[in-house]
Formats: sequence, structure tokens, C-alpha cells
Amino acid sequence: MRRLLIAGNWKMNLDRGHSLALVQGLVESLRSISNVDIAVCPPAVYLGELGKALHGSNIGLGAQNAYSKPDGAYTGEISCAMVKDVGCRYVILGHSERRAIFGETDQMVNEKLHAVLAAGITPIVCVGETLQEREAGKTQQVVRSQSIGSLKGLSHDQMLKTVLAYEPVWAIGTGKTATPAQAEEVHEDIRTLLESQFSKETAQKVILLYGGSVKADNALELLSEPNIDGALVGGASLKQDSFEGIVRAASSVHK
Ligand code: PGA
Repeated sequence: MRRLLIAGNWKMNLDRGHSLALVQGLVESLRSISNVDIAVCPPAVYLGELGKALHGSNIGLGAQNAYSKPDGAYTGEISCAMVKDVGCRYVILGHSERRAIFGETDQMVNEKLHAVLAAGITPIVCVGETLQEREAGKTQQVVRSQSIGSLKGLSHDQMLKTVLAYEPVWAIGTGKTATPAQAEEVHEDIRTLLESQFSKETAQKVILLYGGSVKADNALELLSEPNIDGALVGGASLKQDSFEGIVRAASSVHK
């Protein structure tokens, strides 16, 4: 049985006061949820303070990025040890915005992935096709090649500690969600790929999230699909009621 994970990716949103208020509200309202893993990934500057606010709660802290090198002259970057130091249990890697706007390649994502795993943090590695690629019938090819490139060199054990997120770029922040069937088709294919790269047993245990306009009112049908093990939530993670609704939907899923 795979335990569902709902992770909020706040991106570059919310100021300090609103961040703290949201976290305090979620700690209170989600206190009784014990069958779902929950995480929030705020902007890096607030991680330390929010880590303290989350301490002792059932909500994990995640960073939206971290660099692959342990220390040194890398202006503007933060290391995996640093994010761990402030209480992060998760790091999002290779989000499509990092790939498209900041030029991250599969190789860079792969280097970061090894560093995150070495630090004992759970990576959430994102893959997904653009609208153009989907319309050209290249979804499977793109998702497979990003997955293979990003996961290079992982042992079975490291693969088991890695979360993958399928996020079709055309569904991110657009209000256009992949249908449950569209998402499930890709998730199933990722699991088949993992089976060929690792083993059936390993592939069956890896947590595969869906991301792209997940909301409280579409979460249940997406999460009910057999190979969708949770969600990476952008816009709907910025408000207590919508994020809470998604977590509650996950909590009600029986597979
Ligand atoms: P969205 O973002 O939920 O706002 O579409 C998802 C993501 O980018 O992780």
C-alpha cells in the first residue's frame, strides 16, 4: 500500500505574515489527519521560521529547490545541508518553471537529486510535457526521457526514497486539469518505466504525484486512480480552505 502525499508548492507567493498565518491555520485544521502525508513548500527565506511553526505537527516542510554542491562560491544558492538544517524533509526538484525559466536540464536535476538523497531528504522530482509536445503525440517520449535523465544512477534503495511528480506543463496554473484518465495513463507508463529500470517490486512502491490545477473539487477523482498517489498543488495550496479540502479528499480515498 502506498501512502498518499499532498504537497503544497507555494512558488514565489505570500509574504511573511500570510505564510505564518496559513501554516498556523493548517496545523490546527489538519491535526486529526493521520492517513495522509502532508507537506508545504514555502519560499526559502521563510523556511526557518515556518519550520519552527510546524514543529511537532503532522505537516512536513519542503524547499522548492536546493543546489547540488555542498558549499562554496555559488552566489544565490542554498545547499541541501542548509535546507535540512532548518527542518526540511522534502525538496522539489526540476519543476517545469525551473526547467523553462532557469534553464535546468535533466543532468542538473540529476546532480541535485543525488545531493538531496545524500542529505537524507525526500526529493520530489517533476517531469511533464508541454502542450506542443502533447499535441505532437510526444507525451510518453518526453516524460520517459526526462524521467530516465533525472533519475540516472539511482540504486533501488534511492529510488524508493524518491517521489516523482507528473506535471503536464499545460495544466500548471492554467485551470486546465488533465482528466483522471489522461493523468492515469502517464502514471501507469512511468510505473512501467520504473519496472524496466529497477524492478516490479520497486516500481510498485514509488510514490507518483500528479500536479497541474489540482483543486478541492477535482482532487478526489484524480486521487482515486490506481497509480496516482497524491498531488503537488500550486495555486490551491495558498489558501487554507482549498488545501485543506484536497488533504481531506486524499484522506477519504480508499484504494
Ligand atoms: P498549479 O501548480 O496547481 O497552480 O497548477 C502546480 C505546480 O506547479 O506544482
